[in-house]
Amino acid sequence: MAVTKSLKLVDRDADGVDLAFRADVLAGLAEAQKAIPARWFYDDAGSALFEDITQLPEYYPTRAETEILHSRAGEIADLVGEGRAVVEFGSGSSVKTPLLLSAIRPSAYVPLDIAGDFLRASSAALAAKFPGLPVHPVEADFMRRVELPGEVADLPKLGFFPGSTIGNMIARTATDLLRSMRATLGEGSLLLIGMDLVKDVDALLAAYDDAAGVTARFNLNLAERINRELAGDIPVESLRHEARWNDTFARIEMHLVAREDIAFTVSGTRFAMQKGESIHTENSHKFTRRSSQLLLAAAGWEPRARWTDEGRQFSLVLAEAARPRSAP
Ligand code: AVI
Repeated sequence: MAVTKSLKLVDRDADGVDLAFRADVLAGLAEAQKAIPARWFYDDAGSALFEDITQLPEYYPTRAETEILHSRAGEIADLVGEGRAVVEFGSGSSVKTPLLLSAIRPSAYVPLDIAGDFLRASSAALAAKFPGLPVHPVEADFMRRVELPGEVADLPKLGFFPGSTIGNMIARTATDLLRSMRATLGEGSLLLIGMDLVKDVDALLAAYDDAAGVTARFNLNLAERINRELAGDIPVESLRHEARWNDTFARIEMHLVAREDIAFTVSGTRFAMQKGESIHTENSHKFTRRSSQLLLAAAGWEPRARWTDEGRQFSLVLAEAARPRSAP
């Protein structure tokens, strides 16, 4: 087992404020439709709430994807073959990573994550579970091409991007990310990617607005985080969580809706919201077989296999970084 080290990536001012967080919040709250990128949900409290979401009866994606990895482990292993370097986009804290690693017998595991502390902790836990497997964590923003450690340079690669996190990006960002992944992994590499499926709208709305109110707390934690970290005084009790289905873009949207007219300050800047106005906090796109194929193809990935769970709720796609070809 080898665990390599890394460097700090987050820019902070003298008071410890994350400058990118502040810039995104101030710019997003100044828009006509207020919007804050979903990546800011994941402070410690938000990450813990997301773990709770994955256990909810209404939130099927984690269970469905785990079911696929269990039931199709043999087929995945046959197609992927042994001896690859598994490059996970995000540090695998879930049960899914061990399931994949046990199924395919890789030669190395390379988790990529911007959150260094979390990356090191989950890498150490993973290395303890797989003694003998070289683990090379890389602290990096995988939205751009990442230089992989020299130790895996000559190994064939399998990218792993579970959870349908790709669905949290608009098409242009998702395409950019898939292209960056292709550049990171190299031509001929494989990518195993989770993509949540379009389904009954009531089931989708329930998954993003659960009866126990955990998703509501997850959404509202963003406003609390702004208050904690950006000297904000948002009256959080005057906001409510709302999940909406946007049929044009085939996505669930999460919003924080003002229950009444409010005004507040963030990092010294004044904002106001009228009753009913919202801050758009997340998109979670859902895919069909065609739309998933189209998105992958737009970024140079050719689907080789696709599996769904028994309930046909979620898909796992294996794609190959195909050699560019001119039409037709
Ligand atoms: C991380 N991501 C794939 C989750 C999703 O389903 O879009 C985030 C989430 N938001 C609310 N519930 C879960």
